[in-house]
Amino acid sequence: MSGFELRPMRPGDREGVAELICLSTNYWYRAHGHPLIFPGGPQTTALFFDVYHALEGSAGLVAQDQRTGFLLGSCFYHLRPTHVSLGIMNVHPNHFGRGVARALLDPTIGLAQARAKPLRLASSALNLDSFSLYTRAGFVPRCIFQDLILPVPADGLPHPVPPEIHPATLADVGAMAALELEISHIRRDSDYRHFIENPEGIWHVSVWTGPQGMLEGFLVSCGHPGSNLLGPGVARTQEQAAGLILAELDQHRGRSPVFLVPAECADLVGRLYAWGARNCELHFCQVRGAFSPFRGVAMPTFMPESG
Ligand SMILES: CC(C)(COP(=O)(O)OP(=O)(O)OC[C@H]1O[C@@H](n2cnc3c(N)ncnc32)[C@H](O)[C@@H]1OP(=O)(O)O)[C@@H](O)C(=O)NCCC(=O)NCCS
Repeated sequence: MSGFELRPMRPGDREGVAELICLSTNYWYRAHGHPLIFPGGPQTTALFFDVYHALEGSAGLVAQDQRTGFLLGSCFYHLRPTHVSLGIMNVHPNHFGRGVARALLDPTIGLAQARAKPLRLASSALNLDSFSLYTRAGFVPRCIFQDLILPVPADGLPHPVPPEIHPATLADVGAMAALELEISHIRRDSDYRHFIENPEGIWHVSVWTGPQGMLEGFLVSCGHPGSNLLGPGVARTQEQAAGLILAELDQHRGRSPVFLVPAECADLVGRLYAWGARNCELHFCQVRGAFSPFRGVAMPTFMPESG
């Protein structure tokens, strides 16, 4: 390693990491002709530090210049019962190509290997820098997601939310975690407890309850200037996924949330286009280690990283 060292993220890094996430991500997207991901500036990207330090089993790493103390890179990781996932990875643009990201990635690979668990993340199909970082490190792209953006009118979309959908309560956490395990083969009860308890006041969770009171799907959404995303969520069918998306979009009237759906779910994608959704990016589900195909509709997100 040349001229920098890795260390755990500390409370005093909050502002520096927020600056780094904002600068690095916006720089990359602007340099490649895309709109800014974080137009609200670094005060909005402190959200990543805050949420990743509030969720059980999540932590961050930074790369620091040994001479100046400057933060060169950061990433987050999440230890979950079934897997490890990697949160947003950023390197300062002045230091791209020096091996900073690979150095930050290696300890998380080590954590996953030591636990004999797969390591999962979502990586942009438009970003060869991150795609290459992960595939060179042994990740395999397993599934393609379409990122869609949909402007929600101030008085809501003109489509009824199915009556099977209700806001989630803490009593749903076990069934949500079990359903995700069945569909996506990952489990994270404490994340769902956090979203429903909603200490930050930014989360909303809908559930689809079937005829015998069985949970058939759920979807979380986040409404914050640093992250206006739907997800994570799963559903047994594309129709249930569409209903859950509609219910969560309704929580974001007057805004334009982004959400990810499996590209292979053609009926769902067709319905979303008919509602006015537009493609804004593509992501791969990347897994290093064991992977079983999804057995339903998986709707991941980046905040928090849900693989
Ligand atoms: C993506 C990003 C984190 C990469 O950081 P970096 O420090 O420049 O990456 P590294 O120098 O560690 O290089 C990563 C690896 O990719 C390889 N690589 C880069 N471009 C490649 C290409 N086109 N083909 C093959 N390999 C390539 C490098 O050789 C290196 O592999 P190695 O370690 O086996 O030699 C950085 O560009 C960034 O912060 N971008 C903006 C934010 C972002 O996109 N984050 C990722 C999404 S969360």
